[in-house]
Amino acid sequence: MAENDAKRAAAEAAIAEVRDDMLVGLGTGSTAAYAIAGLGRRIAGGLRMSAVATSLATETAARAAGIPLLPFEDVSQVDIAIDGADEIDPAFRAIKGGGGALLREKIVAASARRMICIVDASKTVRQLGAHPLPIEVLPFARSFVSEAVRGLGGEPRLRLGPTGEPARSDQGNLLIDCVFGPIADPEALAAALSDIPGMLGHGLFLREIDALVIGGPNGIERRERSTTVR
Ligand code: A5P
Repeated sequence: MAENDAKRAAAEAAIAEVRDDMLVGLGTGSTAAYAIAGLGRRIAGGLRMSAVATSLATETAARAAGIPLLPFEDVSQVDIAIDGADEIDPAFRAIKGGGGALLREKIVAASARRMICIVDASKTVRQLGAHPLPIEVLPFARSFVSEAVRGLGGEPRLRLGPTGEPARSDQGNLLIDCVFGPIADPEALAAALSDIPGMLGHGLFLREIDALVIGGPNGIERRERSTTVR
C-alpha cells in the first residue's frame, strides 16, 4: 500500500466510529486531511455531526468539505478527536507538531472523550526521538528557551517558513524543532520542558491517545491503549 493510501485507509477506519450528533475534533496534517474529506462525504450522505478544528488550515478544509464547525472557545469536551502523528511508540506516546499545530492539537486531544491517532506504518517506532520534537515558543523567550533546550541535551532549530522567515504558529508564536535523538524518558523530558517559562507547548503526547489505527502494506491494524504493554 502506498503511503497516501495507507493514510487514507487509517483515516477512513477512524471516521467509521463517528455517529450522529457527535462533536469531533479535527486534527491537522495530511493524514487528518483524509479524515476531513471522508467526514465531508459522510455528511453529504446524511451524517449529522459538528466539529472543532485544530488549526486554521483544518478550519478551511473542513468548511470546504461542508463540515459544520463550532468555535473551540465555546467547547469543553469533544466526543472523538482524530489526528495524525509524526512518531508513535508501543505505549501510545507520540511526537506531534510537524505541521506546527501542536498546541491546539493537544488542547483538543485533552478535551476528547476518545482520541484516535491515525498513521501510516512509517510513523510507528520502538523509541521516540528520530523525529525532532517541535515546541511552540513565545517570541520574546526565543533565546532563553533555546538555551534551556540545550541544557536538556537538545539541539534547538528555529523553524523557518518558505521565504526563510521564522515560521509562525496560528497563534503567532515561534516553532522550534528540538533534536534530542532517542528519548529514553519521555515523561521526564515533557516535565522538564513544561517547566521552561516561555515554552508554550511541546509535541510529546504521552497520555492523550486512546486508540491507534495504522495503515500498512497488509491493510489496517487497530490497537487500543488498554491492550498495549509498556
Ligand atoms: C500537525 O501539527 C501534526 O501534529 C501532524 O499530526 C503530524 O505532523 C502528522 O502529519 P501528517 O499526517 O501530515 O504526516
